[in-house]
Amino acid sequence: MCGRSRTPLLWKEKVMENEALSIVDKRTQAKYEIPVSNGTIRAMDLRQIKTGPDDFGLMSYDPAFMNTASCHSTITFIDGDKGILRYRGYPIEQLAEKCSFLEVAYLVLFGDLPTEPQLKEWVGNITHHTMLHETTKKFLEGFRYDAHPMGMLISTVAALSTVYPEARHVLDPEVRKLQMYRLIGKVPTIAAYTYRHSLGYPYVYPDNELSYAANFMNMLWKMTEPKYVANPILARALDILFILHADHEQNCSANVMRSVGSSQADPFVAVAAAAAALSGPLHGGANEEVLKMLDEIGSKDKVPAYIEHVKAGAGKLMGFGHRIYKNYDPRARIIKWAADKVFEVTGRNPKLEIALELERIALEDEYFIKRKLYPNVDFYSGIIYQAMGFKPEMFTVLFAIPRTVGWLAQWQEMLEDREQKIARPRQVYTGHDARDLVPIEKRVAKETAAM
Ligand code: ACO
Repeated sequence: MCGRSRTPLLWKEKVMENEALSIVDKRTQAKYEIPVSNGTIRAMDLRQIKTGPDDFGLMSYDPAFMNTASCHSTITFIDGDKGILRYRGYPIEQLAEKCSFLEVAYLVLFGDLPTEPQLKEWVGNITHHTMLHETTKKFLEGFRYDAHPMGMLISTVAALSTVYPEARHVLDPEVRKLQMYRLIGKVPTIAAYTYRHSLGYPYVYPDNELSYAANFMNMLWKMTEPKYVANPILARALDILFILHADHEQNCSANVMRSVGSSQADPFVAVAAAAAALSGPLHGGANEEVLKMLDEIGSKDKVPAYIEHVKAGAGKLMGFGHRIYKNYDPRARIIKWAADKVFEVTGRNPKLEIALELERIALEDEYFIKRKLYPNVDFYSGIIYQAMGFKPEMFTVLFAIPRTVGWLAQWQEMLEDREQKIARPRQVYTGHDARDLVPIEKRVAKETAAM
């Protein structure tokens, strides 16, 4: 396929002698040797296990991908038991302390940290793609005043597909690179415009002299002053939050990005689809839900009763639990540290008291200990965002801005991986056998879910 650079097939090279799984099929007494590599067997190797020539072959059944690796990846490493997160091998703590968000974005996308000239060129490329076409602005104006910012973001990012029709040439690396600049440059602009739209304020054009985070703040909060000057502590805190959210390997939205991208759809619609996945309350939408929960609890003394209510199955502790982390989410630890810096400027968010009490009680409670439920990235991020002046509806949009980088890195890796094809899971059909159609006048009504 044109323009498709091919990564080597590592799998077979890495299979060691005696690294195999012996299977005896008790249905047939047949024996099979299935190679094991990187602690994994290939699901397709199961297909040879058949009861006879007409048998389709064995499949694995794994709803919600609880134990299925869908790709090889070199982008992000997570050790959920130890609470480790690394981008391209670098610990998240070091990146958050020493790098800017765009430096980390370069690392996530291209595999190595940039040199000074590379960073300068990269920042230049992103900042020169921050403007939106005027028709896209008009598109945004069509939303109701109370439209949820995530809905506006998702639709407007998808609409960019109509502005850049060449984006569909996804197998051309140069075309891909240009769309990456555009998406990383324009998503903050769209995000800021959704906010201004909800307030009824005029849109503010990007200021390319400012840093990525400071320019975003400019587009959000500039009023009549000739030049917006961001508070440097808040701009740095936002930059750190962006670094923490840049990628998180094969989560729900990254999986959507890869899946939609695998049909060779253009990256604007694929990012819109990934953002839609992010918006759900069990994924990136949890940060908004945490604030609602803290409001519902109201005060520190009501925390024990709320915990009991969760344990009784009446709801979840939002911002707690993770499919992969069975330890403290390292991002939550850094966010707690960043919160102190933000509060020095903004004053302490009173909700922090409730959140700290929730964490303290939950971490000592048998229910949460047994299930290894710890605070995740969303538990404290909303408290900072609110202190900085964001409304809860904006929180998931703030997550989507940096995660655009991760989605694009996952998409690029998928397109360059010669083992990837259009994503298409199998199913275990449990419906009716073939049956004959009954004419409408002879049908008997049954209670169905649709009624
Ligand atoms: N509060 C209370 N109980 C919980 C919570 C929670 N937040 N999370 C999980 N549990 C319980 C489950 O009820 C289940 O209990 P059981 O064994 O008695 O049935 C057990 O812990 C295991 O939970 P699962 O739902 O099987 O875990 P899963 O990996 O499928 O879900 C998820 C992970 C979706 C993150 C879940 O923990 C959750 O809903 N958390 C709250 C929402 C949230 O914070 N999401 C953000 C995640 S981070 C991110 O996406 C950016």
